[in-house]
Amino acid sequence: MRLQNDEGKAVAPVLTEKQPEDSEIILQASGIKRVFGRGGTAVTALSDIHLSVPRGAVVALKGRSGSGKTTLLNILSTLDDPTEGSVHFEGKEITGLSARARNELRRRDIGLVFQAYGLVPLMTALENVEFGLRIAGSSKAGREEAEWALERVGMKERMKHRPPELSGGEQQRVAVARAIVHKPKLLIADEPTAELDSRMGLQVIRLFRELVNGSGMTILLTTHDPDIMELVDHVIALEDGKIVSQTIKGSPVT
Ligand SMILES: Nc1ncnc2c1ncn2[C@@H]1O[C@H](COP(=O)(O)OP(=O)(O)O)[C@@H](O)[C@H]1O
Ligand SMILES: [Mg+2]
Repeated sequence: MRLQNDEGKAVAPVLTEKQPEDSEIILQASGIKRVFGRGGTAVTALSDIHLSVPRGAVVALKGRSGSGKTTLLNILSTLDDPTEGSVHFEGKEITGLSARARNELRRRDIGLVFQAYGLVPLMTALENVEFGLRIAGSSKAGREEAEWALERVGMKERMKHRPPELSGGEQQRVAVARAIVHKPKLLIADEPTAELDSRMGLQVIRLFRELVNGSGMTILLTTHDPDIMELVDHVIALEDGKIVSQTIKGSPVT
């Protein structure tokens, strides 16, 4: 389309940095395929993955063990590269970025929670969270930020305790505090409730909801717990590395 001014002459279109509709989608994956290995032993872990994560939503990726959830989260968080396809974060392509740019992205904008909490047993909860900030490369001392994060997850009273003195749910909350201490826009959590009983699991999801409502965070998690699926905004189902359904608050996406 050619834009014209009042006199009918062509003028340059005004380019805005970001289209308004783009800002509604924080993370987008297009045509993702991931093949591990080569030749006869090659495993296609993901194929034809297209998905969008709306800003400010809690999105669950569900699927059986081996369906490709972790592989997909690794690609979406730039820990791994897809064999084909692209990922965009806030409208910018993040596939194929340099190691340095990826680190920068994870340091600033993305928080990660892994299935094994990954806490250092000899450090207190507070030290673990401070350490998270240091790994993220922050120059800040971190005490204040770490206390803020532990307060957000309801663990400030227990901040001097070490992981072996905490329950699974409490350790998971510390792991979440460590992932949010740098105030990321997007929190990616791989089976954050898998090791927890259902009450603790629901507490973690409630915490996620508070983070979304209170800090405007977006959360993408994996789970196979049906109770948790009820509490999220958007469910994406994976089977054998393919998306088989996507629903928003109970209604199928057409
Ligand atoms: N590094 C790897 N090398 C080879 N195969 C892998 C690798 N990582 C994952 N896979 C395979 O990819 C498939 C999906 O695995 P994964 O993403 O871990 O599933 P989920 O997290 O849903 O349990 C599985 O068949 C798994 O064996
Ligand atoms: Mg997994």
